[in-house]
Amino acid sequence: MKKILFFLMLAVVSQIVPAQQQTDAATERKIDKIIKQLTLKEKVSMCHAQSKFSSPGVPRLGIPEIWMSDGPHGVRGEINWDNWGYAGWTNDSITAFPALTALAASFNPELAYEYGFALGEEARYRKKEILLGPGVNIYRTPMNGRNFEYMGEDPYLASTIVVPYIKGVQENGVAACVKHYALNNQEKWRGHINVNVDDRTLHEIYLPAFKAAVQEGEVWALMGAYNKYNGQHATTNKVLMNDILKGDWGFDGVVVSDWGSAHDTDESALNGLDIEMGSWTNGLTASRDFAYDEYYLANAFYNKLKSGEIDESVVDDKVRRILRLMFRTNMNPERPMGRMNNKEHHDVARKVAAEGIVLLKNEESFFPIDPEKKITIAVIGENATKQMTIGGGSSELKAQYEISPLKGIQNRFTNATILHSMGYASGPSTYGRVVPSTLDQDSLHQAAVETARKADVVLFIGGLNKNHHQDCEGGDRLSFNLPYNQNELLLDLTEANPNTGVILVSGNAVAMPWLKDIKGLMQAWYLGSDAGYALADVISGEANPSGKLPFSFPAKLKDNAAHHFGELSYPGDSINQYYKEGILVGYRWHDTKNIKPLFPFGYGLSYTTFEYSDLTTDQKSYMQTDKITLTFSLKNTGNTSGAEVAQLYVSDPKSSVMRPAKELKGFKKVFLQAGESTKVSITVPVNSFAFYSEEEQNWVVEPGKFNLLVNSSSADNQLSQTITVNQ
Ligand code: BGC
Repeated sequence: MKKILFFLMLAVVSQIVPAQQQTDAATERKIDKIIKQLTLKEKVSMCHAQSKFSSPGVPRLGIPEIWMSDGPHGVRGEINWDNWGYAGWTNDSITAFPALTALAASFNPELAYEYGFALGEEARYRKKEILLGPGVNIYRTPMNGRNFEYMGEDPYLASTIVVPYIKGVQENGVAACVKHYALNNQEKWRGHINVNVDDRTLHEIYLPAFKAAVQEGEVWALMGAYNKYNGQHATTNKVLMNDILKGDWGFDGVVVSDWGSAHDTDESALNGLDIEMGSWTNGLTASRDFAYDEYYLANAFYNKLKSGEIDESVVDDKVRRILRLMFRTNMNPERPMGRMNNKEHHDVARKVAAEGIVLLKNEESFFPIDPEKKITIAVIGENATKQMTIGGGSSELKAQYEISPLKGIQNRFTNATILHSMGYASGPSTYGRVVPSTLDQDSLHQAAVETARKADVVLFIGGLNKNHHQDCEGGDRLSFNLPYNQNELLLDLTEANPNTGVILVSGNAVAMPWLKDIKGLMQAWYLGSDAGYALADVISGEANPSGKLPFSFPAKLKDNAAHHFGELSYPGDSINQYYKEGILVGYRWHDTKNIKPLFPFGYGLSYTTFEYSDLTTDQKSYMQTDKITLTFSLKNTGNTSGAEVAQLYVSDPKSSVMRPAKELKGFKKVFLQAGESTKVSITVPVNSFAFYSEEEQNWVVEPGKFNLLVNSSSADNQLSQTITVNQ
């Protein structure tokens, strides 16, 4: 009954937010003037590509070209003008930053700013106007080949990390381009799968990070996705682009198509696409030569404008947005110069890598391993030496250098004897094809087991890699298990030497049938240029692990919500798919349905321990427009310095609609010396407790009681308090 009453008394939280900050009036007047001087042909030419990664300027008026580059964690090598080959320049090798899963795992927004700023400097030095990243598609299934490029399963975490990243990039006069808007949560059938999702789920789970990118990050560009939503391709989708992005959210920047995601002139013209890229290609390998005039926003668009079928104001709006982006980037005389491959950038990459690593198991204090010890360490596994900046699709990088885990360990553990054995081998990384290794797997397996026997400590460095059907664009994983018989190898290794720890290099959760047999486990992602150094920092205890999982690790695939509902839910029937789990994605599913994950969202161990106490709130009851400030004490109770990510979850025990058991609404990463304690405050607006009401088509906070939970992971509650929200 309470529910019905409350429903009648619903308070609608205003969604009318001021439009994204416009450039100043003087700039808009300059844009008006330029538009008046442009011919119709010139206007149309600005709305589509002239090469794989650029769109034309207007030479007659001195309007520059726009140059774009992938990708989310480094500036990609130069690509040929009209095919996908690398151009072979010698000045385009860069700093590779850790993949975005690692950044998200750091739970550190200040570090996200440093990351964005350093990356933006590199993009600026490489003379790019648009950096094609970051990606904020939500981690819905561990099978998605592109999860490593994104920021995990929680919309609040992704929103909190994406905003400073964007600000950092854009301070360099380089536009970030948040992607892939929206619902591109799997690679399988990505070009045409029609995602069926209810409005509530769309707004609560899949849109918030994009909305934060637009309204808080003030991002200057956004990339439309390949898939369909409501039967219409996302890039040219009226609801996503016109109604939500440019309407409700007031986005004043440029919509860029994903490469080949536009399919129709009218839709492209009228539903918000501003620059069409990559058409007549599959976005990866095939292409027709010099097809740019045949793009949907090229000759066909021009003819419709000329005949009056499409009003000229349509192209004027696109050109206005493009010029606005130019005034923010290459037509901004104040634009900084950028720099690349400098020590500061390497330091940022290494810091993010070390802070992103997540310690998942540490029996008998297996980690850290003392570098002073004269022991024999067997480093086993292909990922100890495989270059991970190569492969993976468009995010592939031409790193100036990449320190492998083996090199990092050899460099740090100079007192130890380091043995190395590959254990298994994958083939070379290729787009869209699996090429098996020609090496004899049985011999590799045998040699590794022999090596393990000779060592005091075994470090198995395996996981996935950037090959097709692993962590790679253009396809999903085929199995939740580790590939290349690593499960079998691990069983034999742990039998040969029980003193074994595992370092998983992957962007996705995997099955772990060997978990009980190993002593230590670290999730090490793809860590970029300084991967090996950062890993050695953490293994040796030079850095204390402080990363937390940005997504849940299910014990088995069926425990993941998308997979629970069968094939129509994932991957779909090749035409349609249905997000049957609705809002219950990730820990929302595990917690609400009491399905214990192998490792929960927000989980991560440290070499020290923390104690939480004395939670208070500034009041006991609040209005919907208020902010709540929670304060509690956090103490480092161990004997080494370290950082803890204190997480605030909110649960609504009584509601007129189903609500997840709890949802993340705030967090704080706190660094403490051994023995040090501090007061931690987290402030959270009451209106962030809202759900999206399909009836109201708006956000609603129902009055009543809410539980505030201060946790060290989604599954580990430390402190709690109940507050009341009034009418
Ligand atoms: C990817 C985008 C990328 C673009 C350009 C597409 O295939 O989906 O993320 O930015 O190619 O390389």
